[in-house]
Amino acid sequence: MPHSPDTAPVCHQDGVRTAEPCAVVIFGASGDLTARKLIPSLFALYESGRLPDPFFVVGVARTPLDHEGFRRGLEEDNATAILHNRDAWLRFAGRLYYHPLDYDDGAAYPRLAAELDRLDREVGTGGNRIFYLAVPPSVSPRIAARLGECGLAGGVPGGWARIVVEKPFGSDLESALALDRIMHRSFREEQIFRIDHYLAKETVQNILMFRFANAIFEPVWNRGFVDYVGIVAAEQLGIENRAGYYEQAGVIRDMFQNHLMQLLSLVAMEPPSMFRAARVQDEKVKVFRSMRPFSEARPEENLILGQYDGGSPGGVAAVPYREEPGVRPDSLTPTYAMLRLFIDNWRWRDVPFYLVSGKRLKEKITRVVVQFRDIPHSMFRHLLGEGINANRLTLGIHPDENIRLTFQAKVPGPRICMQTVAMDFAYGGGGPKVDSYARVLLDCIAGDHMLFWRQDGVEETWSHLDPILLECEHCSNRAGLLHRYGAGSWGPEAAWKWMRLIVGDHG
Ligand code: BG6
Repeated sequence: MPHSPDTAPVCHQDGVRTAEPCAVVIFGASGDLTARKLIPSLFALYESGRLPDPFFVVGVARTPLDHEGFRRGLEEDNATAILHNRDAWLRFAGRLYYHPLDYDDGAAYPRLAAELDRLDREVGTGGNRIFYLAVPPSVSPRIAARLGECGLAGGVPGGWARIVVEKPFGSDLESALALDRIMHRSFREEQIFRIDHYLAKETVQNILMFRFANAIFEPVWNRGFVDYVGIVAAEQLGIENRAGYYEQAGVIRDMFQNHLMQLLSLVAMEPPSMFRAARVQDEKVKVFRSMRPFSEARPEENLILGQYDGGSPGGVAAVPYREEPGVRPDSLTPTYAMLRLFIDNWRWRDVPFYLVSGKRLKEKITRVVVQFRDIPHSMFRHLLGEGINANRLTLGIHPDENIRLTFQAKVPGPRICMQTVAMDFAYGGGGPKVDSYARVLLDCIAGDHMLFWRQDGVEETWSHLDPILLECEHCSNRAGLLHRYGAGSWGPEAAWKWMRLIVGDHG
């Protein structure tokens, strides 16, 4: 095979993928996700000409509002983003509609169906519809059931219907199975899109490219060379205005069952034979199936839970979790967890994977660290002692979008000195940046499942996490297991020794 030094990108023609005209129907339209993520993403896609034409958006929620009131509210929420292109916003806003509806009122859904039919005819979207459930997990099954009962799941002749559900998918294995049963009563699997916005982050997508489009990393990507793997999603933010949801969820349901498990699967999976959604998902599920069951015998060895006290992350005073509006003063909901797990297969046996996530930590850092083993023997020992740092590969997701490999190098000069240096690749150049929500919306419009969860993965991850949740929520020493940590710190002291391994120089 001739080797070319050509560095021009090799691209799939995905950019010219034609998106069919469609309607996006957002349930939970008066909520935070709609204002903060969905509408700004749709607007950005509209501005860059990436939304299909024609299209329209219908916001659905209980709040009584008319179209104008809905548009005005979104405009206020997104004032800064709109400022730079008000004309485009006004054109975009003309495609936003609102339909008040009580999610549990079966009789209200045929009225929604009639409204969608009317808009379809007026705008010309051909009956293609995405039902986006931006609602708490407990509400999703009820809406999915009603959509089926009134015939909206089946679509109109010549059009398609898709349903998008947000993580967490249920709150344990049993509720995830129930949600799936309800969706499958009216929707086929190919109509269902289970969103995890981490999968759409550029640097997360890049993990598979990095691993499987280069020949030099795979041979060392195993227990023979890797000492441990750290996966961290540390946040400086608290729970914002989401106490109602967060009190029920806690950090394990909010971050582990979905985002961290996806990162784990991308780092640990075997190479699929082809970059096709089903094959990639097959390999991910094999990783989930190989996770060593959580041992309840000595939970402290594998699980550290925490809840934030007051402090000043980033120099701004923050109240303790228990004083956040809507949180019970005696709440035992964990806002931090460190989980050590093992993957019992040929490649990873006995390599610890440290998964960490927490709110109100010192900095927002999202990254994967692959720590390689020490060299087997140092010929420099008599000159430089034992201190030779092992190689470390960091896949930065936030704030640095980068890949960094550290290694030892001689310091120039007459003395024998060695130093850890780094090769850095800063992600970011190249094509246009697409926000992760924009990317999943585009993929859903195109019917591409690559960046979504498949139900078997959901079930496997819940099976693994259910015993852990049981431990944090129902063990006799629940309060004792929950370590307090100051907002703005690196989490509970009990976890620092592991935290230091992962956040390293940021520790
Ligand atoms: C969401 C969680 O899924 O991810 C939030 O519900 C969390 O609690 C957020 O803050 C983190 O996402 P990102 O992209 O900012 O790392």
